[in-house]
Amino acid sequence: MNDLDQAKVNAFSEKMLDILNGSMLSLTIGIGYQTGLFEVMANLPPSTSEQIAVVAELKERYVREWLAAMVVGQIIDYDPTTNTYSLSAEHASVLTKVAGPNNMARLTLVIPFLASVQKAIVNHFHKGGGVSYSAYPDFMNLWAEINADRFDATITQKILPLIPDVVEKMRQGVDILDIGCGDGHVLNLMAKAFPNSRFTGYDFLENGINAAREKAQSLGLTNVNLEVQDLTTFNEPNKYALITAFDVIHDMAQPAKVLKLIADSLQPDGTFLMVDLAASSHLHENLDNPLGSWLYTTSCMHCMTVSLGQNGAGLGAMWGEQKALKMLNEAGFINVDIQQIPEDIFNNYYIAKT
Ligand SMILES: C[S@@+](CC[C@H](N)C(=O)[O-])C[C@H]1O[C@@H](n2cnc3c(N)ncnc32)[C@H](O)[C@@H]1O
Repeated sequence: MNDLDQAKVNAFSEKMLDILNGSMLSLTIGIGYQTGLFEVMANLPPSTSEQIAVVAELKERYVREWLAAMVVGQIIDYDPTTNTYSLSAEHASVLTKVAGPNNMARLTLVIPFLASVQKAIVNHFHKGGGVSYSAYPDFMNLWAEINADRFDATITQKILPLIPDVVEKMRQGVDILDIGCGDGHVLNLMAKAFPNSRFTGYDFLENGINAAREKAQSLGLTNVNLEVQDLTTFNEPNKYALITAFDVIHDMAQPAKVLKLIADSLQPDGTFLMVDLAASSHLHENLDNPLGSWLYTTSCMHCMTVSLGQNGAGLGAMWGEQKALKMLNEAGFINVDIQQIPEDIFNNYYIAKT
């Protein structure tokens, strides 16, 4: 112990203090999101805790304690001479709905949702296997909500135009499959935009398919077919002009098999659009990834474990570009173009053809 570099110990202790304070703040920021306090404060001049509580329709004592955490966390400004609190326009632009899918207050909710499976994950470190999808309803709903916001603003405007020949075909009328469609949000968006085309959505979780059907019905869509289907067993050779996978492949138990089935199910000139996390397959190349710790933790506590829970490959969310390209090639995708869009800080858009 005498040989310790004390400066290094001190620096690391400070880093750990930052982590502990930041983790606690993420919980109170999540409360600010769920109570609507950030939205309220974004529209108020500097105000007392009583004034804020009245407008937010919340109990003042709770609001005051929350404000204190926000002030010492340097998220909200405090003027002791007037006893008033204010949220700057700059901070509001990151923490309120004006930030759209990148609202960082909403992203903090991932932390308590994943924390709810922490004990189970520790257990799986010892005995192997993994947590099942059914353990995370809140996490999956939140992620679906975030994806929905992202794709509302981008699917027809930015994402599909990355593959211009497909857009033209979709206007005329073709078959499209969305695999692991979840609650069907993006599938329904596409079906509404391209009424001449026929859209199929498969997912093995019944809740998602039921929600997707309800949405399709409420939108009056007649060109959508949604089925509970395990994607390791579907078999529809040469059927689809476009197959999409939004945030799905790295979660799967048998991704190599599913990629091969996708390649077989495309028409000869069809396209596979795989939306998956932008990362390197090499750990040392992810050191500067601004979301690195966040993504590896989400992978360990969700994406990897749900796959291992089905005796799967456990690819993990950070399988990365190199491995993705290798697996796409092995499945028969010879031409793969990787694109990104500025509205999406998480994903690569792999445009793959056989
Ligand atoms: C992270 S969610 C993404 C959902 C949706 N695409 C979205 O963007 O919101 C992954 C989805 O893949 C589905 N999934 C995973 N493995 C599957 C399989 N073998 N067969 C069918 N669906 C599967 C899960 O049920 C889940 O709905």
